[in-house]
Amino acid sequence: MKLLILSGNPKSDGLCASLEAAVANGAKSSGAEVETLTFDRLTRCRVCKDGWGTCREEHRCAFGGDGFDAAQETVRGADVYAIVTPVYWAEVTESLKSFLDRLRRCEFMTGALQGKKVLLVASAGGSGNGILTALEQLDRFCRHTGAEIYDYIGVNRRNAEYKRDAAFAAAKQLTVDN
Ligand SMILES: Cc1cc2nc3c(=O)[nH]c(=O)nc-3n(C[C@H](O)[C@H](O)[C@H](O)COP(=O)(O)O)c2cc1C
Repeated sequence: MKLLILSGNPKSDGLCASLEAAVANGAKSSGAEVETLTFDRLTRCRVCKDGWGTCREEHRCAFGGDGFDAAQETVRGADVYAIVTPVYWAEVTESLKSFLDRLRRCEFMTGALQGKKVLLVASAGGSGNGILTALEQLDRFCRHTGAEIYDYIGVNRRNAEYKRDAAFAAAKQLTVDN
């Protein structure tokens, strides 16, 4: 049983890193293997071939040599997923969005994520605004890829302590349920 964390977090410490750790520890506590992917060096979708690209038929990105191909293979090898991101501009981070945009095209509906369970975690900082819109963005990614949303966890400074516990418990339960 492998849980893959798709992370939008650029930092090694702070609130979002603590949530990633909670998810990883929750999954490990049930004996699951955990791997984390980050996407700082990937480029965005090139929107090639008049819009639909070659990825719709081939299920691979024509520009995947930048590290996308390897990340896609890692996604295909996992059993369950957690997407963990800080809220930036009321959305997921740009690095994560760029990856999910490309993955959605390659794995649209009948791909590797079809029927797979995904835990969604978004942490806001400053204003605390934007959790809902970031989670809604992730919800749409799951619907386009056919993934099954296991839970939505929205975190801010006030609720961080008990939401960290919730993230641990959700990841543990997710790996047990699967
Ligand atoms: C570019 C940028 C945009 C941000 N936009 C928002 C926002 O729209 N709403 C919000 O509540 N926090 C916002 N934040 C704060 C982050 O959500 C916060 O850093 C995040 O919760 C993670 O906390 P951490 O940095 O301690 O890991 C933003 C931070 C950055 C760097």
